[in-house]
Amino acid sequence: MSISFNSTASVPKNTHSIHILHGPNDARFLPLEPKVRRDLQERLKKKEDYICVERLGIQNHVLLVGKISDTPLYMRLESIRKSGVEINTRLNKGKIEAVFLAGEDSEMMLALAEGLALSNYQFLKYRKDRSEKSNTLKKVTFHGPITGPEITRLKARLNGVYECRDLVNEPLSYLTAPQLAKEIRRIGKTAGYKTEVLGKKKLESLKMGGLLSVNLGSVDDPTFSILEWKPKNAKNKKPIVLVGKGVVYDTGGLSLKPTANSMDKMKCDMAGAAMMIGTMASISQAKFPLHVIALIPATDNRPGGNAYVPGDIVTMYDGTTVEVLNTDAEGRMLLADALTYAKKYDPELVMDAATLTGAASGAIGKYASCVMGTAEESDFKALEQSGYHTYERVARMPFWDEYGKEMKSDIADLKNIGGPTAGQITAGKFLEHFTDYPWIHIDIAGPAYTTSQDSYRGKYGTGYGVRLLSDMLWNKAFPPKPELPKKKRAVKK
Ligand code: BES
Ligand code: ZN
Ligand code: ZN
Repeated sequence: MSISFNSTASVPKNTHSIHILHGPNDARFLPLEPKVRRDLQERLKKKEDYICVERLGIQNHVLLVGKISDTPLYMRLESIRKSGVEINTRLNKGKIEAVFLAGEDSEMMLALAEGLALSNYQFLKYRKDRSEKSNTLKKVTFHGPITGPEITRLKARLNGVYECRDLVNEPLSYLTAPQLAKEIRRIGKTAGYKTEVLGKKKLESLKMGGLLSVNLGSVDDPTFSILEWKPKNAKNKKPIVLVGKGVVYDTGGLSLKPTANSMDKMKCDMAGAAMMIGTMASISQAKFPLHVIALIPATDNRPGGNAYVPGDIVTMYDGTTVEVLNTDAEGRMLLADALTYAKKYDPELVMDAATLTGAASGAIGKYASCVMGTAEESDFKALEQSGYHTYERVARMPFWDEYGKEMKSDIADLKNIGGPTAGQITAGKFLEHFTDYPWIHIDIAGPAYTTSQDSYRGKYGTGYGVRLLSDMLWNKAFPPKPELPKKKRAVKK
């Protein structure tokens, strides 16, 4: 469950504490048995490992975290995040509620705190035995060079991931499109962003044909939520706009999902929306000096009522006509309308996130999202770097014109499906038609949801993308200093 964080100038003796060590000297003052300390110092001398020691009152434990020799920083950070899972398990066994986390390197300490907090997450709302099942850790106290603003940002980021996971884990029986809009308002009230919700009547008067047609088979109204964070000290003149696919459940509609069990996880089809909501919560709670807007078109997709059918021709919000050849390609219908809506802000950059295609996870699995678009190379680079730094990695796709040609229809301007290959890219090309600004499309169908435990990402909603975008946006507000060029060695004559 959620953890509170603060810091202290000293670690009291005989308390539960975790120490991150980088060299033999760091072990000198630890309250260890002499033999354990000697062993530890020997290993640290070899400069082989980051070692993390936890002293849980009863026993001293030594935990290997990962090789440091020649390992890039992002891999070391990920190893240390992962070690949070093992430590969390031990804390639970000892029913320990509070620990001290000591170290010399704030980045490593923050990564471990992240790993601890993310593995402490549980979704127990629907279980009678939730109080017995609840993880025990409630408080982490830092001792080291961590600053107040770093703790504020950590808390905001973790809160964003928790909110994102909760939303993805909620089933349709609770999280309908109108309920999603309510959750967005609730989160905004505490985090800081403003919310406006467009209801069905408004969407009809705007003629948002893409969103409305997907909603035709539903018993619930669609919603279109607009989240805005506009601080006085915003560094960007034109806003950054985030768009998230909010399909609260995807049955496929009349083109009912054909693959056995594939519908079981389709409550996750609003993970793009949850990623953007979590990101907005994170950046507004930490008061990023950036003007950012998020657009969340939401509905479920099911047969019944007046459901849209294969063969229908839908007039979209921007007037484009689309021949619907598969009602299961619904995400692009509502995203297209939201991307059109984004034009009115004259945005600096638009990023959308969606569990859009099985092809994306087919291509690269759960380890990364597929990204493509028309933004500046520098923005793709920044996203890629944040991807490694947070270990929410992104894989760039080609985005050649030929893929777009597959989306032409004989009877309308576009059709909603392409050929049998590269489905994640043809879907992206469909969306491109509705953009006229720098844009990045992030297909998160692979990493958004997992049905087996995956380290600190957990089981079910992983919260993918909140840390990625929070990091990228932070770097937009405060660009990291470029690395100094290496000095050339003097060449002996
Ligand atoms: N929501 C699905 C994509 C998806 C698949 C998300 C697996 C998460 C895990 C999307 O709406 C969909 O059904 N896409 C179709 C498109 C096709 C009909 C062109 C797909 O990928 O099969
Ligand atoms: Zn679908
Ligand atoms: Zn879908």
